[in-house]
Amino acid sequence: MDRRSLLKLSGTLFAGSILTQGYATTKTLETIAGLDLPTNVDNPLYLHFNENSLGLSPKAKKAIVDVLSNVNRYPESHINELLATIADTFKVEKQQITIGSGSSDIIRGLINMQGYLAAQAGKKIQLISPEPSFSLAAEHASAMGIKVVNVPLDKNFCMDIATMKNIADAFDGLSICYLCNPNNPTGTLTSTQTIADWITQADATKNFFMVDEAYAEYITDPAFVSGTSFIRENRNNVIVLRTFSKLFAMAGMRLGFSISTEATAKALSPFMAIENISSTTAVAGTASLLDKAYINESKAMNTHSLKITTELFDQIDIKYLESHGNFLFHQIKCEPELYTAEMKKEGIIVGRPFPPLTYWSRVTLGTTEEMNKFLSVIKKFKKKGWV
Ligand SMILES: Cc1ncc(COP(=O)(O)O)c(C=O)c1O
Repeated sequence: MDRRSLLKLSGTLFAGSILTQGYATTKTLETIAGLDLPTNVDNPLYLHFNENSLGLSPKAKKAIVDVLSNVNRYPESHINELLATIADTFKVEKQQITIGSGSSDIIRGLINMQGYLAAQAGKKIQLISPEPSFSLAAEHASAMGIKVVNVPLDKNFCMDIATMKNIADAFDGLSICYLCNPNNPTGTLTSTQTIADWITQADATKNFFMVDEAYAEYITDPAFVSGTSFIRENRNNVIVLRTFSKLFAMAGMRLGFSISTEATAKALSPFMAIENISSTTAVAGTASLLDKAYINESKAMNTHSLKITTELFDQIDIKYLESHGNFLFHQIKCEPELYTAEMKKEGIIVGRPFPPLTYWSRVTLGTTEEMNKFLSVIKKFKKKGWV
């Protein structure tokens, strides 16, 4: 066989091996993640970042392989296709969508934009965030010198909208109101009617709402109304953030997007890098959105893992919060450091502590096999009185 045919064959085999791997492989992550795992652990379970253990959609994998011969070109056409697919899925215009290298990237761009606009207008600015919650907006705001006001969750572990609103109303400047629904790490859903009552009455010159719906695809509650409804009402002071890192298992590909009015997307644009995702990421996003079988499988996996986990927790009396995401926030009865260290000894990495909710832990819902392993360890922990 000549060299060219050999290369062609090895290319085909490479592509084939990528395409036939049904699930993600975790083994090699051991060293990458720098998690200092015990050496006797063969297949660690990564249940700490709310990633998706199912792995990428087979159609997305194929799209990535197919586009490789074209990556010497800039990704514009693939990004355009992705924009069109998102626009079609959400029934909005392409111009209303902003693409980010993960939704984290858009959060960063938005804080930069609001900080800059407030400085230009000589306005005071603050960020109001629930606590505990996904902290990136707060961290970035702090780094920018923007005052952060953390508002503890209410007694139901939902966002305390009334207090957040009061704080915004009392402020003589611009409030960036970060709303995380469902909330990470609690998984709780705040009434969308309560949120709507605030947003629809708020002074648009004083309040900018970042509605982070990273886990929205998992919600089954029929009462949930996405923040995109405010965009359809043409509100320039609302933006909705979505990610491909969760349901679509693309955390390592880095892809997120926002939906806003065209005017807000235009204002945000100078604060985002141009063509900020790769061709491989763009085609994977498009293929994933169109892969209905994969979407159903991904949701079904989550539903089943949630069911078996909550069933055991009910049986052995572990308190947990109703989850609307791909993770479960549950109580523990020992010091969190001990809990995470003992889990690690068993080869399971679970979420870090989320103060002020100290005696709680967050576990990502993985595959059935992963959850069964986690649950067998939980039973041992129960006997030791740690949960
Ligand atoms: C609520 C929330 N928003 C945003 C993100 C960031 O997602 P991405 O991977 O798209 O940057 C996460 C990640 O865990 C999250 O939990």
